[in-house]
Amino acid sequence: LLTNPLVATSIGNNREVMSSQTSTDPLLILSSALQTAFEAVAGRTGVDPVIRSSDRADAQANGALGLAKELGQNPRQVAEAVLAECAGLAGICSSVEVAGPGFLNLVFSNDFLSRLLNQVAGDPRLGIGTVPSKRVVIDYSAPNVAKEMHVGHLRTTVIGDSLVRMLSFVGHEVIRENHIGDWGTPFGMLIEHLLDLGETQAADHLSLGDLDGFYKQARTKFDADETFQDRARSRVVLLQSGDAETRRLWNLLVNLSTHHFNAVYKLLGVLLTDDDLMGESAYNDLLPQVVTRLDKLGLLQQSAGADVVFPPGYTNREGEPLPLIVQKGQGGFNYATSDLACVIDRVERLQADLLLYVVGSPQAQHLAMVFDVARMAGWLVEPNEAVHVAFGNVLGSDRKIMKSRSGDPLKFIDLIEEAVARADAAIAAKNPDLSETERHEIARMVGIGSVKYADLSTDRVRDYVFDWERMLSFDGNTAPYLQYAHARICSIFRRADTSRVSVRNVVPTLVEPQERELALALLAFNAAVVDTIDKYSPHRLCTYLYDLATTFTAFYEHCPVLKDGYESTRQSRLALCDLTARVLHQGLALLGIETPEQM
Ligand code: ARG
Repeated sequence: LLTNPLVATSIGNNREVMSSQTSTDPLLILSSALQTAFEAVAGRTGVDPVIRSSDRADAQANGALGLAKELGQNPRQVAEAVLAECAGLAGICSSVEVAGPGFLNLVFSNDFLSRLLNQVAGDPRLGIGTVPSKRVVIDYSAPNVAKEMHVGHLRTTVIGDSLVRMLSFVGHEVIRENHIGDWGTPFGMLIEHLLDLGETQAADHLSLGDLDGFYKQARTKFDADETFQDRARSRVVLLQSGDAETRRLWNLLVNLSTHHFNAVYKLLGVLLTDDDLMGESAYNDLLPQVVTRLDKLGLLQQSAGADVVFPPGYTNREGEPLPLIVQKGQGGFNYATSDLACVIDRVERLQADLLLYVVGSPQAQHLAMVFDVARMAGWLVEPNEAVHVAFGNVLGSDRKIMKSRSGDPLKFIDLIEEAVARADAAIAAKNPDLSETERHEIARMVGIGSVKYADLSTDRVRDYVFDWERMLSFDGNTAPYLQYAHARICSIFRRADTSRVSVRNVVPTLVEPQERELALALLAFNAAVVDTIDKYSPHRLCTYLYDLATTFTAFYEHCPVLKDGYESTRQSRLALCDLTARVLHQGLALLGIETPEQM
C-alpha cells in the first residue's frame, strides 16, 4: 500500500496519532470512535473503519466488508455487531444504520456539528491539523538565465508556490530550491556577445528585461560568424576551467537575469528570493564525483563513446535499452549529471526526506531515469523519496502552446500586466464608487489571483486553455467568484455594523438545511487540505473552496442574515458568515491568492 509520507499519519488509522491531537474534523473524530467499535468486534487493534463520503448520509463506513472476510462471517452481521459496540458515537451521530451489503450509514447530530463549528471559530488554524514534520525540498520555477520567463514557467511557479505554502502550513520543513539553468555551452556565446556590446550597454539592455532579445542577437551572430563561434567555444572552456574574468562576466549575466526573475516573483507574490537560488552551476564541484561514484559501484558503461548508466525498463523507439548519459565523449557533463548531483546534495547535505520536482510532463522520462539511477546507486533509499509533480501545457485558444502575437512564447510579465489591466476594467464596471487607488489595489489581487487560480484549479496533469474571459468571470469556478464571496461577507458585517471578532464565540444553531450544509462544508476544510497535499494537487483545494462558496450562496439566498427578527438567529448566521469568509481567505492564501475586503 502506497501512502504519502506527508499525510499518512494525519489520516491514517493510527489511533494514537489521532487521539493525541484534538481534531475538529468530523470524519476523523468519527473514524477514531468507530475504530474502537471495529476493534472490539475484530478482537484486535489496527482495524480501519474505512470512512467514505455518502449520498445517503453524512458518511459511510465500509470496514465491515473487509472485516467479515477476515472473520469468516456475514458482512451485515459484522456491521450489526459493530453497531452494538457504538456507544461511543452517542455524542457524534444522530443516526447510524446498517445498509446494503453491510455499510454503516452515519448522520452527524446537529449539536455535534455546532460544537465543532464553535471550536473551529476559536482556532486560528480553522481546524487544519499539523503532522509530524518532514524535511521537503521543493524544486520549482527554474527559469533559464538570459532567457525571458515565459508562460511555460507559469505553472511550475504557481503550483510550486502553493505546495510550499500548504506543506509549511501543516508543519513540514520546506526548503525552496530554484534550479535555474545557469550553466552550459550557450554561456560562451552570451559572454562574447556581452563583451561585443560592452558591459554597460549590455547591462542597460538586459535590465530593461529584454532577455530574449539579447539571447537572440547572440544566437544570430553565432550562427552567422565562424570567428564568433570559435570565440564562444574557447569562452566555454575558460568558464569551465574557472577563469576569474570569465566567471565575473558570467556572474554579471546571472545577476541581471535573476534581478528580472525577482521582479516577476515580487509582482506575483511568490515566495522565491535570491536565498532559494540553487542553479545547475551550484553542482559543478559534485559532477566529477557523480561519475566516479557510479563507476565505483560498477554501474557505469560505455555507449557511443559516452559514460552512461542503463536503468532497467527504458527503451528507445527501436526497442533498445535507453541509457542515461552522465559524461559525454569529450568529458562534458550534462543536465542528467547535474540532476544526479542534485539528488546527492538534497539527500546527503540537506538531509531531506522528500524531494518534489514541480516540472513539466515532457521531462517525465528524464526525471524518472535520474531517480532510478539514484536508487540504483543507493543515493535515494527508502523512506527517502523523490516525486515528479508533473503538469501539462498552457494552450492558446487554438489549442496550441500559447504564443504572443509575434509568435514567441508569451512573456510572463506581459501576461500579468494584462491580467491586472483587465481586472481593473471589470471592477470599474462593477463598482464605480471605488477610488482609483482602491481599485488598482483590488485589481492587482483579482488579476493576479485569476491567472493563478485558472492554473491551479485545473488538474495539473492536464493541459488547459488560457481564457481571459473565463478566468476573470465573476461566475463559476474562478478567483473573482471566490474573492467576491469573501468580499460580500465583509460587506454584510459592514452593513450589520458588527465586528467579525464579536461573533466568534457564538455557538451556531443549525435549523435550516442550508445552514447544516454550510456547516458540513466548513468542517471539511481539513480533509480538503489533507487530500490536496496527499495528491500534490492544488485543484482539489480549489474544488473544495468553490463548493464552499456555492454552498454559502445557497445559504445566503435561503437564510436571511440581517433581516431575521431574532437576535440569536442573526448572531448564529453571522457566525457562519464569518467562518466562511475566514476559510475562503485561508484557503486562497494557501494557494497564494489574496482576498480583498471589497470589490
Ligand atoms: N531549468 C529547467 C528548464 O527550464 C528546469 C529545471 C527543473 N529542475 C530540475 N532539477 N531539473 O527546463
